[in-house]
Amino acid sequence: MNLYWPYENRSGYLHIEGVSSLDLARRFGTPLYVYSEGRIRRQVQRLREALSKQYTRTRILYAAKANTNTSVLRVVREEGTGLDAVSPGEVYLALNAGFSPDDILFTSTSVGLEEMLYLIDAGVRINVDSESQLDRLLKQEVPETISVRVNPGQGAGHHEHVVAAGHYAKFGVWERDAVAVYAKAADAGVRSFGIQMHIGSGIMEAGPYVAATEKLLEIARRVHKEAGVDFDFVDLGGGIGIPYRPEEGEVDLDAFLGELFTLVKSKLRDYGLGEPEIWLEPGRFIVVQAGVLLTRVTTLKSTPYGRFMGVDAGLNTLIRPAMYRAYHRILSASAMDEREEEYDVYGPICESGDIFARQRQVQRTGEGGLLAIMDAGAYGFSMASRYNSRPLPAEVMVRDEEARVIRERETLDDLLRGQP
Ligand code: LLP
Repeated sequence: MNLYWPYENRSGYLHIEGVSSLDLARRFGTPLYVYSEGRIRRQVQRLREALSKQYTRTRILYAAKANTNTSVLRVVREEGTGLDAVSPGEVYLALNAGFSPDDILFTSTSVGLEEMLYLIDAGVRINVDSESQLDRLLKQEVPETISVRVNPGQGAGHHEHVVAAGHYAKFGVWERDAVAVYAKAADAGVRSFGIQMHIGSGIMEAGPYVAATEKLLEIARRVHKEAGVDFDFVDLGGGIGIPYRPEEGEVDLDAFLGELFTLVKSKLRDYGLGEPEIWLEPGRFIVVQAGVLLTRVTTLKSTPYGRFMGVDAGLNTLIRPAMYRAYHRILSASAMDEREEEYDVYGPICESGDIFARQRQVQRTGEGGLLAIMDAGAYGFSMASRYNSRPLPAEVMVRDEEARVIRERETLDDLLRGQP
């Protein structure tokens, strides 16, 4: 299998699609998000190929929240995906990047009237999360299509914050209420239906995904029987993980999807649900390995208890380690062949949680050296903030040995924007 890996050690220096990370840092400054366009394209293609072996009618909706840079959205659109949006902002960015309203499925929870009006005006398909949201929608118009997010009763994920189904999740409609919600939409005159779930994020094993899908299809059967609804699409959400730690392996896509679709095909048949399109909403899987965060070493210091390496990125730039204790591999981009030493790698934010790694072996480098924090293409920039009044970083896309800025670095003046 050709995974198309864009990272290369050339004489001790990290190169990304043939471009030296040192040159990138020098030209565009740090902290800097760098994406490989080839890797994004390849991931969509890999997933599409793997899906086409399982079932003829599948669709990929890229979960924009992972990375909403307009250039990234354009690349995934060119690869033929639809889009999963969770806010008016994401809808706006997607339309601007050339997605048509038909390609966009909006899924959110806690959707108020103003937001609903924006969605109706934009003409996107809406996946409702509650009966209250459906009522709000039907009061304005009877849409052509309605999809309902159901909670299949069990979730999964790499951290409790990203488990999005099960007893304590805020998301979705439970089986108990699903028939009534669909019946209400059908009575109002809706003619085309979907059903959706998203159980969580960072899933490496098919087991929980398959179990939740089984429950989803049982709910679909009840809705079909009791409310007379036929489904045009069944959307199984996102969540396929990638190996962040060196000792983890890639998800075996053929095996994962094989298990999933064996169940899907047999249940669709047994439950008389016809042949709806099957949709997936991957975010992380598409973009995460395409991105690295380059950050400059500002400070080396030791205390009686350890050695610390200070860098110019912080939890404002990449919040995943602080928020989920997430592991990201860290390479010395400017000294890949050096021997390793143990450091705590920390950022400039005035919080003790601003730590990228504890007691991590990193290749020896001095102040002024460059680190690459790997697997930062998803939930990196999209979760970045201006905390401590640090302007947002720049983003660069690399393709065939050429780099281009796809978001300019903010300046101190940007911190004043909109304030009298
Ligand atoms: N669909 C829906 C409705 C979602 O809520 C999500 C993610 C996805 C699809 C895409 O999930 P993915 O394929 O990327 O796992 N910030 C966290 C992840 C939060 C995901 C929230 N929803 C992290 O950095 O791990």
